[in-house]
Amino acid sequence: MCGIVGYVGDKDAYPILINGLRRLEYRGYDSAGVALVHGGSLHVHKCKGKVSDLEAHMEGQERSGSTGIGHTRWATHGPPNDVNAHPHQSSSGDLALIHNGIIENYAAIKEELTHRGHTFLSDTDTEVLVHLIDDVKRTEEVDLPEAVRLALDSVVGAYAIAVVDRNSPDMIVAARKSSPLVIGIGADGEHFLASDATPIVEHTKNVVYLEDGEIAVMEKGSTLKIRNIKNQEKTPFIQELEMHLEALEKGGYDHFMLKEIHEQPRSIRDSMRGRLNLAKGEVVLGGIKDYEQRFVNARRILIVGCGTSWHAGLVGEYLLEDLARISVEVEYASEFRYRDPIIDENDIVIAISQSGETADTLAAIELAKGKGATIIGICNVVGSSIARVTHAGSYTHAGPEIGVASTKAFTAQVTVLTLMSLMIGHKKGTISGSHFYRLLNELESIPDKVEKVLKNEAQIKYIADIYRSASNALYLGRGSSFPVALEGALKLKEISYVHAEGYPAAEMKHGPIALIDEEMPVFVIATKGASYEKVVSNIQEVKARKGKIIAIVTEGDKAVKELADHVIEIPETVDQFVPLLSVVPLQLISYHIAVMLNRNVDQPRNLAKSVTVE
Ligand code: G6P
Repeated sequence: MCGIVGYVGDKDAYPILINGLRRLEYRGYDSAGVALVHGGSLHVHKCKGKVSDLEAHMEGQERSGSTGIGHTRWATHGPPNDVNAHPHQSSSGDLALIHNGIIENYAAIKEELTHRGHTFLSDTDTEVLVHLIDDVKRTEEVDLPEAVRLALDSVVGAYAIAVVDRNSPDMIVAARKSSPLVIGIGADGEHFLASDATPIVEHTKNVVYLEDGEIAVMEKGSTLKIRNIKNQEKTPFIQELEMHLEALEKGGYDHFMLKEIHEQPRSIRDSMRGRLNLAKGEVVLGGIKDYEQRFVNARRILIVGCGTSWHAGLVGEYLLEDLARISVEVEYASEFRYRDPIIDENDIVIAISQSGETADTLAAIELAKGKGATIIGICNVVGSSIARVTHAGSYTHAGPEIGVASTKAFTAQVTVLTLMSLMIGHKKGTISGSHFYRLLNELESIPDKVEKVLKNEAQIKYIADIYRSASNALYLGRGSSFPVALEGALKLKEISYVHAEGYPAAEMKHGPIALIDEEMPVFVIATKGASYEKVVSNIQEVKARKGKIIAIVTEGDKAVKELADHVIEIPETVDQFVPLLSVVPLQLISYHIAVMLNRNVDQPRNLAKSVTVE
């Protein structure tokens, strides 16, 4: 949440900042702003709305400067308006600051600074930081990096910040604690700064991921300097980015979400590449190889995540229990962290997160780690905070996901959980040799089957058109199709703003059935498998109340076809892998309904993709 960019070098900072903000807009789009240092002056421009609103606002304004910072906001403290937009300035007008995170003790700091004569203009927690740094700089008579260090020592909360000072025109000082920051090392002593690597990759592939408690000084023509909050010097660890620019563009699609839905055959394949070896009949997850035995011995696995990642965790519960015969508990990270969960050093906790930055998931990890559990990460963003704090893990390799509603990350997470379950089950002997081999073969065919599902898009769009005006929808499934029902409902809510609920099909009669009338579309995952007959009975119950049935069925199905108003066929697969196919039509239904309702598909209202606040 909230995106940060920065540039210091010889070039014009403004276009670099604006491009960077566009890339980071998925992190929040309530307001945007930039601060540019030119000679001895500092110009701050900001306004409510999206980056495009900022660009319009900048027409005719002073844009010069080869040092600058920019921000796109997801509001926490104070409504989204011009005044609360970042950057914030100190009373002296010397400093401007941007921030991602939450300052927990801002009220106490504000009170103290108000007594000392500082005047606050906004409702934000952020503004206290810029006043505090300015105050420390003057009273302690120190330079900007030292003032930032001393000031942060008294700050409680999460932050990624960047500060510029008109008296040090060629410098940006940045710091992080629990919110991400990446520094790009360009040619000839130029430096880039961002919340993730996407704004940086078009300028340089050499990056440094700032660690918690570190303060970076980026100065034109100088090498990057890093100190920690205790004033110890750190050697920057420069890594090479593996990201490609094309992955950050829409590539001819109308929306990132649609592109990402269509990328799934590739992203699932990439998540399996080098891990599933049919010739040798094995699954190797290099990142967790050293922990294999621990998995085999595990009596219990806990899975934590939020949103779509939590849904992937629920699918993982079915997979791990079924294939590896390990008892699994899936928890919302936000709930888990505020209980006193019973965990010890025998437990394995799998943390699932696309961004690798979700604050609640990070906090849940710290809690479980503190109790001695082994923490395994399933993350998409390489080098992200969660990827770094876990003991080991497997990346999903889905490539950058930019649409706020998660699609290809979900199927990639489920793919990795499937591989994990197969690997453990095989090692443990809970899957017999021939069955294991059949499952590997089947898993390898899944990307082609997803491709086939995507070919039904025209029919799915037709169905979307019929139900575009529905104001409620119900999603039903049993077994591992229940989390898919939850995910289908979440997709519709997120991007169409249509109320939708996912339910285990059999639970419908304990409440939701009261909602069913001829206006209610009911999406049912009714594929062939263990609970097929039971789901057919649930469909009958809906039909008896005149509900409209849209069923996801196995190719060639006859019984459901006779009952349902519409069926969407998916290729046959084993029960365990159905979620990888059945979620795709639900993603497409939501996408097309949202487009028909004229919603902002990639940036739905009130949401952000990387939730770095609790
Ligand atoms: C936000 C996003 C969701 C995502 C969730 C968890 O709510 O809008 O799409 O599923 O965060 O994010 P994570 O990055 O941890 O998977």
